[in-house]
Amino acid sequence: MTDLAVIGLGYVGLPLAREATEAGLAVVGYDENARVVSGLNQARSHVDDVTGAEVRAMLDAGFSATCRAAVLGGAHVVVICVPTPLHPDGSPDLDPVCRATRTLAPFINPGMLVVLESTTYPGTTDEVVRPALERATGMTAGVDFHLAFSPERIDPGNKGFGLRNTPKVVGGLTPACAQAAAAFYGKVCDTVVMAKGTREAEMAKLLENTYRNVNIALVNELAVVAHELHVDLWDAIACAATKPFGFQSFRPGPGVGGHCIPVDPNYLIHQARAAGSAVRLVELAQEINQGMPGYVVRRAAQVLADTGKPLAGAKVLLAGVTYKADVSDLRETPARPIVRALRTAGADVSYHDPHVPAFVVDELPVRRARDVVRAAAAVDLTVLLQPHAAYDVDAIVAASSLALDARGCTHSGAELL
Ligand SMILES: NC(=O)c1ccc[n+]([C@@H]2O[C@H](COP(=O)([O-])OP(=O)(O)OC[C@H]3O[C@@H](n4cnc5c(N)ncnc54)[C@H](O)[C@@H]3O)[C@@H](O)[C@H]2O)c1
Repeated sequence: MTDLAVIGLGYVGLPLAREATEAGLAVVGYDENARVVSGLNQARSHVDDVTGAEVRAMLDAGFSATCRAAVLGGAHVVVICVPTPLHPDGSPDLDPVCRATRTLAPFINPGMLVVLESTTYPGTTDEVVRPALERATGMTAGVDFHLAFSPERIDPGNKGFGLRNTPKVVGGLTPACAQAAAAFYGKVCDTVVMAKGTREAEMAKLLENTYRNVNIALVNELAVVAHELHVDLWDAIACAATKPFGFQSFRPGPGVGGHCIPVDPNYLIHQARAAGSAVRLVELAQEINQGMPGYVVRRAAQVLADTGKPLAGAKVLLAGVTYKADVSDLRETPARPIVRALRTAGADVSYHDPHVPAFVVDELPVRRARDVVRAAAAVDLTVLLQPHAAYDVDAIVAASSLALDARGCTHSGAELL
């Protein structure tokens, strides 16, 4: 018998499978992507926070990945960790969740615990997953099988906090469902927090990510104003952060990226609108953050113009193109709209990133520089987008004839955003 089956072996599902395997549970992973499955079965990890050696240790401990859904039938617990992207119009795309639910339905056993971990709007577990499973099985959630929601709080690249030591919120369809979920997560997490229900657990995750999104938008908007007012906003933030209470610092940047921060607020916006309401602050934050790549390009043009050079024809190096430092994830990276706008303006764009061997924008590869300091010396402008730990940012600035620091991480010589 399998203790745990994980559906979706990505940034969220694979660390869960690793933690559960390490805790001594019998774990299988189901993923519809054959490349992901065969890579894992050959001890190759496609996720930054899980090493190949860790996958090897998982396999040695009995873990296996598969594209065969039948493995789900033998599991006590099934956790769904599939993506929750957006449709092209910005509305929630629950298709992966619905497909995973349909795949699971024929294999639900009496007493099984089913948990949704994918970030989504309040009501998804109760109004989308529950009826789909009940219709397909003829069983009743909360009576014949347990159903719960538990948001994943993984922070890729974070060395201090992982699944084990980050408190895990669980919300059950019924108190018994919540107990079952708490008992399971108690095996892989140090602290389990019980939400009132699935809706509160779903909302908690959206609140966390929307809180980040809104606060990042605040400092991004302030960065634009601070430039006009001749204020070094990063210095002002460092000063404000010395207040021991009531202030948490966020830092401006070229825009938000990744699968969560730019995407999740739309789940809230959509649900609020569907309910005839609006989350105006959240909508505004989305607009401000989405405007940052354009602002970076306008600042690049200004910095060049100050030395008498037009952006058209200028050689521009982007240093760090991932959505945040020290990861290889390019999903929703602001570097993509920045490349697009620079190309439109006629700039000659290249990039350097120790984590990205190839960077393609609109099916056109961006030229890759192998040595960031040498490349910085050869261009008209270096734009520092991500302060990867591998970078000596001050050496990059020193080598550049002009540098724009979009992260406020350099000490002197660079223009700030
Ligand atoms: N990446 C993060 O940092 C993070 C953090 C917290 C929460 N989340 C949330 O967790 C969820 C998963 O995100 P992720 O980053 O792990 O995604 P991911 O793209 O890294 O991995 C998802 C995996 O699921 C597989 N998959 C998709 N649909 C499937 C289906 N119907 N059946 C089986 N496999 C399927 C894909 O092949 C892929 O391997 C999302 O809702 C996301 O918002 C992500």
